[in-house]
Amino acid sequence: MKIDLVTIFPGILDGPFRESMIKRAVEQNLVDINLVDLRLYTEDRHRQVDDNPYGGGYGMIMKPEPIFKAVEDLKSRSEDLPTKVILLAPQGRSFNQQIACELAEEKHLIMICGRYEGIDERVRTALVDDEISIGDYVLTGGELAAAVVVDSVVRLLPGVLAEEASTEESFTEPLLEYPHYTRPRVFKEMEVPPVLVSGNHGEIARWRREKSLEITFRRRPELLKKVNLSPEDRDYLEKIKKQQS
Ligand code: ADE
Repeated sequence: MKIDLVTIFPGILDGPFRESMIKRAVEQNLVDINLVDLRLYTEDRHRQVDDNPYGGGYGMIMKPEPIFKAVEDLKSRSEDLPTKVILLAPQGRSFNQQIACELAEEKHLIMICGRYEGIDERVRTALVDDEISIGDYVLTGGELAAAVVVDSVVRLLPGVLAEEASTEESFTEPLLEYPHYTRPRVFKEMEVPPVLVSGNHGEIARWRREKSLEITFRRRPELLKKVNLSPEDRDYLEKIKKQQS
């Protein structure tokens, strides 16, 4: 997969892909991440990427020409790859694991990081295929949002995570994770649940399932509607509900 990140602040995106799992994925050529400085696509002396809004009002708007030029250039450089152009902006559809999985199937992503008060609408109408928000809050720009999206997409690419981890992990099924423990067995008088040291794999799996169901029920009950619940799961949830009332 190839990912081009179009930004006026490439420095913000320098760090996140130089560490840990994403760094390894880049080194192993599982993904090619390319930071693209939007100012390189300006032609004026001041390398201007923004301008005043028509109709007046507060703030500056990102100009369309450099963005169109950048995207056209990046598309032409990877002619053979089908490309998806994504704008990171608070108005976009809410990002989630399902969208991460969809994007992980793509061959070439161009992500445009919005800045200032907004972006010329013609970028949206004629250039962008998908608009993504990472949550209902406003960042100073789309760079950190792009880093979040790239991180969650790249870890899904074949070969990046251990096979087992990607199928077992939380959100393959939309249940929250059960609690984890490591050594020491007793820490500040808090003991690891005995079932986890019992060696009984069936019981351990059942305990984990029940903890996941319980945490999801207490924190994000709406997620349970999307889970395939077994008869045992249903009995367990009934038990918790009764305890609560
Ligand atoms: N740019 C500013 N805020 C954003 C958000 N919440 N998601 C994506 N891009 C943004």
